[in-house]
Amino acid sequence: MTQPTTQSTPQSIKELEQRALKELAGANDADALERWRVAYLGRRGALTTFLRGLAQLPLEQRRELGALGNQTKSSLEEELVRHSQEISQRLLARTIDQERLDVTLPGRPTTIGRLHPTTQVVREITAAFSSMGFSVVEGPEVEWERYNFEMLNIPHGHPARDMWNTLWIDYRDEAGRQPMLLRTHTSPMQVRVMESTQPPIRVVVPGKCYRYEATDATHEWHFYQIEGLAVDEGITFADLKGTLYEFARRLFGEERKVRFRCDYFPFVEPGVDMSIDCFACDGGGEGCRICRDSGWIEIMGAGMVHPQVLKGVGYDPEKYTGFAFGLGPERIAMLKYGIDDIRHFYTNDLRFLRQF
Ligand code: PHE
Repeated sequence: MTQPTTQSTPQSIKELEQRALKELAGANDADALERWRVAYLGRRGALTTFLRGLAQLPLEQRRELGALGNQTKSSLEEELVRHSQEISQRLLARTIDQERLDVTLPGRPTTIGRLHPTTQVVREITAAFSSMGFSVVEGPEVEWERYNFEMLNIPHGHPARDMWNTLWIDYRDEAGRQPMLLRTHTSPMQVRVMESTQPPIRVVVPGKCYRYEATDATHEWHFYQIEGLAVDEGITFADLKGTLYEFARRLFGEERKVRFRCDYFPFVEPGVDMSIDCFACDGGGEGCRICRDSGWIEIMGAGMVHPQVLKGVGYDPEKYTGFAFGLGPERIAMLKYGIDDIRHFYTNDLRFLRQF
């Protein structure tokens, strides 16, 4: 501790000041600054002790050294403030420097989801029909038996019901019947659309269907269908063929040929299944995995709306005629992309889904 003595001179205060300033310059953080403040300006600090001790000196000396000592004290105090500010600015600058962004670095890629392959194909198909003047509508997945069967010319007890393995809802009406089911196809929407509008009608109906199935590579208990319906005065089988042929070419390429063969669906007459010539082997057939040697691939069922169905919704079958069709988008996706198992669509395996 620096005590004033009779040898204390202006020179010794100067030395004290210089030592203090030198130490202050070396104090680089808040702790060091505080230590410095205690050592020189604190209650028992060097300068304070020095000033306190002046009281014992003769008046002349006390006056001179007192004035000098007080000056030194305030200049050290100012210097402390100045130096602390400098240090905090330096710290701030360093922090900013460390946090600086390099805007030229390549960005981190965010993972964007994608549309499920079924959704993609559904959209592709509905877009093709939209561009031919069809509008897109949707309907309920839980359906009345009336729409799913009866109004489609499949009455109670009709053997054609066996063509659809049905999941019935556990609910009974007054007659003890189960009138509600998970729709087995999108065809009930034919009836709903006709009931609620008047011709001309041109609609496609994408949606989920359900069947009581054991699953295997080509059967799922739920899957999509896209139903189509056109009703107007004077619609003929030629319109059906022309529309579906154009659709097949849009989806599978200009070169495609189509083939219609007789088939049976209770709600159309005549009924057909439509095939395209195989795009994988160009119809050659032999050894082709996609068409299994036949050269042809069945892609949908279709036909002219049965007069019974038109009558059921109050249309005059002498005035109005129409065609309807139904196709399975998963099946079309399987053909297009060479997918060998329909179960891939709904097992949620990203290795599969990421390929589309
Ligand atoms: N609904 C039929 C099925 O599920 C397909 C179909 C629709 C056939 C429209 C003809 C007309 O098999």
